[in-house]
Amino acid sequence: MLSRFFTVAVVMAVQVIAGMTKNGTRCTVTPSGSNDDSGFIMDAFKQCGQNGQIDIVEGDYTIAKVMDVLNLKNCDISIRGKLTWTTDVNYWTKNSIGVTYSQRSTAFRLGGDNFSLRGYGKALFFGNGQTWYDVNKNGSNMAGRPISLTLWKAQNVFIDGITWRQPQFWHTFVAYSQNVTMTNLDMSAVSNSQWNTVNTDGFDSWNSKDITIKNWSVTCGDDCISIKGNSSNVYVKNVTCHESGAAVIGSLGNPTTVPDYVDNVLFEDFTAIHSSNAAWIKTYPGVGHVKNVTFRNFVFQDVNQPIYISPCIYSYRNCDASKLKISDITWENITGTSRYNVAAGIYCSKSTPCTGLKFKGIDIKPKNGGSAKVLCSNMNSDSGLGCTGTCPAGWVQQLSGNA
Ligand SMILES: *[C@@H]1O[C@H](CO)[C@@H](O)[C@H](O)[C@H]1NC(C)=O
Ligand SMILES: *[C@@H]1O[C@H](CO)[C@@H](O)[C@H](O)[C@H]1NC(C)=O
Ligand SMILES: *[C@@H]1O[C@H](CO)[C@@H](O)[C@H](O)[C@H]1NC(C)=O
Ligand SMILES: *[C@@H]1O[C@H](CO)[C@@H](O)[C@H](O)[C@H]1NC(C)=O
Ligand SMILES: *[C@@H]1O[C@H](CO)[C@@H](O)[C@H](O)[C@H]1NC(C)=O
Ligand SMILES: *[C@@H]1O[C@H](CO)[C@@H](O)[C@H](O)[C@H]1NC(C)=O
Ligand SMILES: *[C@@H]1O[C@H](CO)[C@@H](O)[C@H](O)[C@H]1NC(C)=O
Ligand SMILES: *[C@@H]1O[C@H](CO)[C@@H](O)[C@H](O)[C@H]1NC(C)=O
Ligand SMILES: *[C@@H]1O[C@H](CO)[C@@H](O)[C@H](O)[C@H]1NC(C)=O
Repeated sequence: MLSRFFTVAVVMAVQVIAGMTKNGTRCTVTPSGSNDDSGFIMDAFKQCGQNGQIDIVEGDYTIAKVMDVLNLKNCDISIRGKLTWTTDVNYWTKNSIGVTYSQRSTAFRLGGDNFSLRGYGKALFFGNGQTWYDVNKNGSNMAGRPISLTLWKAQNVFIDGITWRQPQFWHTFVAYSQNVTMTNLDMSAVSNSQWNTVNTDGFDSWNSKDITIKNWSVTCGDDCISIKGNSSNVYVKNVTCHESGAAVIGSLGNPTTVPDYVDNVLFEDFTAIHSSNAAWIKTYPGVGHVKNVTFRNFVFQDVNQPIYISPCIYSYRNCDASKLKISDITWENITGTSRYNVAAGIYCSKSTPCTGLKFKGIDIKPKNGGSAKVLCSNMNSDSGLGCTGTCPAGWVQQLSGNA
């Protein structure tokens, strides 16, 4: 009797802590109540990641280890739970997965062919970012500080309906990927301490093509949607960016000897609120090109410097040495208020001037009244932009007062 009772008790205990069950091709993950659910989720990826479905049901999950899954194939992943990443800075800085770009790394990486990740407006990725913002102490790129979600060598991917709060670093990164659609995502990183969030970008792409982004809301304190080197055919529509850089090409051209190419990007229907910039391009004095980019139907309020181009971002030196050619860029129907008296600061490299810049329907007024300056150097004169003066080399991205 006693031993039979024990067997029953043990089986029941196993069922209670069993965080993963498999039925046919479907793996279901439930909260284990333990201090790490990542093993159960990884088990689901292993057993149902090919020609299967994965359901991470409602509830609270703790993620204490990196999750790296690069062999997904024909898999639908549903997440309705809250995933909380632990604050073990020592673990994460040692174990985050390297993603090559600028020695950055990630906590969660997905790759493969033909998969979806759906959150149904219920999935919540909580990064415990405040710990990272405080440890980072306003530094630039802390080694090992992990990106929340990276798509890596991923093709034919659909991501929808996920909310992020307080990510550790960038919210999302897409690298070496093709045909990726990301819709209805809600992101926010806000620091409640003396330290800024720093580098909590909404989206960054690199070495990727055929990307669609729609219906995002992002509060991030850094770049909202940022298209980096070797990205092409990117379509971004209906994004609201708070406290951010809004629509960005860059940074490109670092290291300065490796070419970066960006082609065929359309940003439309953007709203920017209290942001640093709105529709802009930043490069180091490097090589490569930015070609065929359109920014259209932008509305904004209280943006530090709405339209901006720099060939020498951050160092503001060697600006005229840049050979990274910027051409065929259109700004159309761009309306709002600037924080100071500058609507646009455009400085192109003297050795490689901008060509084919076009402006139509630009209506930018300083929020405190008066008229806005439009500063332009080394660009085509038939752009349609009413330049009011030249832009000095090394013109900064963020102004601290009227020019
Ligand atoms: C497994 O899935 C099948 C088909 O969806 C279902 O009929 C069955 O009840 C499931 N079994 C369990 C144990 O959940
Ligand atoms: C993509 O995966 C889904 C399951 O997620 C499957 O139904 C579909 O047939 C796959 N498409 C291709 C082209 O293999
Ligand atoms: C792109 O990926 C989607 C899945 O998000 C798929 O339905 C579509 O067929 C893919 N397009 C191409 C051209 O393969
Ligand atoms: C961190 O940076 C922000 C923005 O530059 C600044 O306002 C804040 O004072 C800095 N924090 C400290 C403690 O220096
Ligand atoms: C964007 O949001 C609107 C309103 O919620 C919705 O109708 C539309 O389907 C969404 N677009 C996409 C691509 O999901
Ligand atoms: C734009 O996206 C937001 C979600 O960020 C959604 O609420 C809104 O309905 C969308 N607008 C359109 C026109 O699709
Ligand atoms: C971008 O693509 C070019 C040409 O294919 C290549 O030479 C360069 O290394 C790539 N840049 C990066 C940063 O991967
Ligand atoms: C320019 O980019 C747009 C997408 O934004 C694309 O539709 C168009 O075909 C591109 N033009 C050229 C000449 O490649
Ligand atoms: C200009 O952009 C605004 C904001 O997206 C939009 O409401 C308006 O319809 C656009 N105007 C034209 C002429 O496309």
